[in-house]
Amino acid sequence: MSRCKGTGEFVQLDDTFAAYTRDIIAAICYEDEAPMVEDAGKSAEWHNMTMNLVYQQPVAVHLPFLMKLVRILPDAILKLYPAGGTCARLRSNAIDHIETAKKQNRGMEAALKDVRSSMLRHMLLDKDLPQSEKSTDRLAQELMNVVGAGGSTPGTALTITTYHILSNPRVENKLRQELAGLTVNFPTEVPQLTDLERLPYLQACLKEGLRMGPGAIRRTPRCFPDDDVVYKDYVIPKNTPIGIATYYMHNDPEVFPEPFEFRPERWLADDISLLKRNWVPFSRGARGCAGINLAMSELSLGISTLFRADGPKLRLYETERRDIQPCYDRIIGVPAPDARGLRVTVH
Ligand code: HEM
Repeated sequence: MSRCKGTGEFVQLDDTFAAYTRDIIAAICYEDEAPMVEDAGKSAEWHNMTMNLVYQQPVAVHLPFLMKLVRILPDAILKLYPAGGTCARLRSNAIDHIETAKKQNRGMEAALKDVRSSMLRHMLLDKDLPQSEKSTDRLAQELMNVVGAGGSTPGTALTITTYHILSNPRVENKLRQELAGLTVNFPTEVPQLTDLERLPYLQACLKEGLRMGPGAIRRTPRCFPDDDVVYKDYVIPKNTPIGIATYYMHNDPEVFPEPFEFRPERWLADDISLLKRNWVPFSRGARGCAGINLAMSELSLGISTLFRADGPKLRLYETERRDIQPCYDRIIGVPAPDARGLRVTVH
């Protein structure tokens, strides 16, 4: 970003955001400390890889045996298809890290106490985990799932939120004013997460961004296998798939008047109980998002850094709403394939 400052050259910010969230999840999962975020080429490559996978998700939902094939087919065959190529890359990357970690002879106690120790190392060292759960294939599946689930989703939320902030000068000014006090000594003093979580306007912007661009937009149904479900006067037989579509929850005009407008202020009203009820970007319940706290932290830190006191002045560059707005259902909502993404110039 600093390289582009004042040159008129644009930064492809959606790629940057995807790489930022990949770097964090890779460090958490397997101590991968090679950041992509500062390399525009690698950031774009990662973002394209994840989008290849996302665009193919409905195929995997309707033909679930394909996911089993992905586990057994050799990389050379998987790479013939863009989504398969992404799976092959994610898998070989995970396997490299697992095999390296298995070879390393790090002291168990020390590694478990070290807060920087990865999820992978904890799984390998966990005495309660049966050996069958520690096979390379099993661990690779787990790492692929988590990197897949958290490696770009917060990036999409950052893209949508940033677009709306930059398109609304009044919102941007108000946000910058709120952040100014906390970020005046950046980077010598980086704001604490607990402080950012207490900033009402910042948190309202994040909620509104997630409302307009939630992760999954369709129903992600659940079945109750043991008992019928009683809802008001209805009895829903057990094993009936039940779900809510986030799209309709988030765009209900009774709850969110003018739902297609970005209005952080709606979250600052006295009574927001209905808004909270309808806000489900991370789903809910036992199978809701496992990374909600991590995601919210990434969003708080990302947006506060971008709109900090004396931070870069960003202007949208040939970016319209359709370039970022989810309009296709690929389980996750995605923009049209020819969307140009979020591009900004830096001043
Ligand atoms: C803004 C960012 C994110 C959004 C909007 C989001 C959204 C969701 C949603 C809606 C689900 C439930 C899917 C379903 O019902 O089948 C889910 C599941 C999950 N998410 Fe996230 N997520 C985000 C970030 C993350 C991050 C950073 C991680 C990394 C740890 C993560 C890990 C997971 C995992 C592991 C599951 C599966 C949970 C299970 O099946 O038990 N997510 N996420």
